[in-house]
This record gives sequence, structure tokens and C-alpha cells, in this order.
Amino acid sequence: MNAETGKTALITGASSGIGQELAKLFAQDGYNLVLVGRSEDKLDRLSEVFKSNYGTQQILVINKDLSEEDAAQDIYNQVQEAGITVNVLVNDAGASTYGLFATETNWEREKQIIHLNVLTTTLLTKLFLKDMVARNEGRILQLASLVAVTPFPLMAVYAATKAYIWNLTQSLINEIKDSNVTMTALMPNATATNFFREAGAPKLTVEDTMDDPAMVAKDAYKALMKGEAKVIPGGVSNKAQEVMAYVSPQETLAAMMRRLLTPKDESGQEKTPVWTIVGVAAAVVAGIALVSAFNNMDPVDKARYRYKAGKLKSKATGLIDEAGDALSEAKDTAADKWSDLGQMAGRAIANVFG
Ligand SMILES: NC(=O)c1ccc[n+]([C@@H]2O[C@H](COP(=O)([O-])OP(=O)(O)OC[C@H]3O[C@@H](n4cnc5c(N)ncnc54)[C@H](OP(=O)(O)O)[C@@H]3O)[C@@H](O)[C@H]2O)c1
Repeated sequence: MNAETGKTALITGASSGIGQELAKLFAQDGYNLVLVGRSEDKLDRLSEVFKSNYGTQQILVINKDLSEEDAAQDIYNQVQEAGITVNVLVNDAGASTYGLFATETNWEREKQIIHLNVLTTTLLTKLFLKDMVARNEGRILQLASLVAVTPFPLMAVYAATKAYIWNLTQSLINEIKDSNVTMTALMPNATATNFFREAGAPKLTVEDTMDDPAMVAKDAYKALMKGEAKVIPGGVSNKAQEVMAYVSPQETLAAMMRRLLTPKDESGQEKTPVWTIVGVAAAVVAGIALVSAFNNMDPVDKARYRYKAGKLKSKATGLIDEAGDALSEAKDTAADKWSDLGQMAGRAIANVFG
């Protein structure tokens, strides 16, 4: 392909998972690379593969623990000394702990994670963004997460760090809007990488519904190259989760998200939470799509759909009343009632399309 020969992408966390898949896409596209991580041997092997498979001209491997105090400045200095201009920065490296904040997780590890996910990411962004703005050229991809907009009990500190990255990114996008520099927040749903194992988690319920890191990287790469403000990889159910995060009570969301992190062997009696979220949110997303499709219809089709919508309206009113009663009557089992609402919304949508 070699569309971008001569340009350089710096990718932290390139040794595995989403970062490795992103590095591959940059290599395929003709970028030179700066690969950063602690696993020097893996990064060296990856360099050889990229050189032989894609003819990558220049790869600098930087072996660095990004939870260390001066990590970001050290990386910047090494890149400067090598005379490399970084055209794309991918802040991918990140980690979590798993467990109850009050009694189970370790503060020293949490401090490292805050340093890695927040401080190093922020300073790398500052150092490279300044140069990009001066050149009026460049792109930055920030690894946030869908949990940036939801509570995530048992990974509480991690989710808080991702909320920080999400917020920082959206502010900076506004600050650089008059330049040719772009910044994109990547918000993956749970993805099948080493992430949960590295966090020390047991086998979790969420593992049944994980996304493919190659898919996540492809969607992210496309959005980054278009300069989009955010990207939620995957289908409508992932996008619907973000919508749901904005419309659901926080208490209910927290209970649902916690169930995702329940060990598999303890989750036998639990109802599947994520699909309940998705049911309601998919209804919202589908509703928006319907309205926009309706606006573009010819008058005969519009009349037909108005008739169907009239019938649906009376059914939906009943369903919403039913759901409202259910929700108000059962505070303790709000998550279950939300599930009912999701199924009702799903039936309502099926009615429109049927
Ligand atoms: N997997 C998910 O469900 C998910 C969902 C949303 C967002 N994310 C985010 O996606 C990013 C990539 O995670 P992943 O899922 O691909 O997990 P992964 O396979 O565990 O990869 C994590 C990467 O970060 C690097 N890293 C971790 N700690 C480091 C440190 N102290 N210093 C330098 N590098 C470090 C690792 O490299 P070394 O081990 O070589 O240092 C590795 O390359 C993270 O920011 C994560 O928060 C993941």
C-alpha cells in the first residue's frame, strides 16, 4: 500500500492487543514506527516481521516502563535525539487492577496505573501536540474506553482514568479546532486481549461477549485518519451502550457493569446485563435512524409508515406505562426492570420493522 512513506507513527503499548494491531495497520500503510513498551523482545520481533512483510524502512524500539516518573519526557528526548518527526501519536498503553477498592486492590499498583494511564499519557500528548501545532500537522489517538462514561465497579480506578482521558481529549479537540491537527478518542467495548489477565482478574462473565482487537484497530484507524472526535468500534450494540450510559440511572448502570466483571462461576443465577442495556439503547439508536429515514421517504411511503406508527404509538404507550410502573415499584431490582424495558423496546422496534 505504502500510502504514507516517510511519515512516522509512535505507538505506546505496541507489544500486544489493540496497540499491536494498530502498529500492523500503520506498517501496512507505509509508516515508519516508534514502538514503545516494556517487552523489548516482543517489540524487536514485531519490527522484524514488519520489515520483512511490509518493507517498513525505519523502526525505533523504546523499552520503557511508562508508569515511571520521567517516562514521557525520556521518550520525547529519545525521539528528538534520533531526529524523528512524529506525525501520529497513539497513546495505547494502559492497564488496570481488579477487585474491591477498599479491601482488595493494592495502592502501589493503583498509583502506577494512574501514572501510566493518566500522567504519562497527558505529558506525551502535551510534548508531541505542541510540535504538531507548530507544524500545523499531525494526529493523536487516545485510548479511552466505553467505561469512560459508565461506572465500572471492581475496576473503579481504571474507569476513572479513562474518564479523565475522554474528557481531556474532548477539551483538547476544541482547543486545536482551528489547526490541521486532529485528536480522536477510541472507546472500545471489552476486547479479547491480555488486558483482563494482566489486571489479575479471574475468568469473567464479560469474556463471553468480547470484541476482536483487529476489528477495534481497523475501526480506530479509519476514524483517526478521518480526524473524527471519537470512535466506538463494532456494531450498533456497542454504540447503543454509550447512548444508554447517558440516559440510565448511574446506580443501575453500576449494577449492570459490575455483573460483567463477576467471575464466570459466580454468575449462573444472574440475568445477562449487557443485552438489557443494549435493548433499550438500540431502540433509541434505531429511533434516530427511523426518523432520519422517514424524512427522506416519498409521500406514499410516509403515509404507510404514519399509519403503522399510529398503531405502534398506542402499543408503545401501554408498554412504557407498564415499564414505568415496574421501574418505580422496584428500586432494589432496578436492573431487572430495566431488562424488561429493554425487551419491550425491542418488541416495539420489531413492530415498526415488521
Ligand atoms: N481490552 C479491553 O477490553 C479494553 C477496552 C477498552 C480500552 N482498552 C484500552 O486499550 C489499551 C490497550 O489495551 P489492550 O486491551 O490491548 O491490553 P494488552 O493486550 O494488555 O496491552 C496493553 C499494552 O500496554 C502496554 N503496557 C502496559 N503497562 C505498561 C507500562 N507500565 N509501561 C509501558 N507499557 C505498558 C503493554 O506492553 P508491555 O507489557 O510490553 O509493557 C501492552 O502492549 C489500554 O489503554 C486499555 O485500557 C482495553
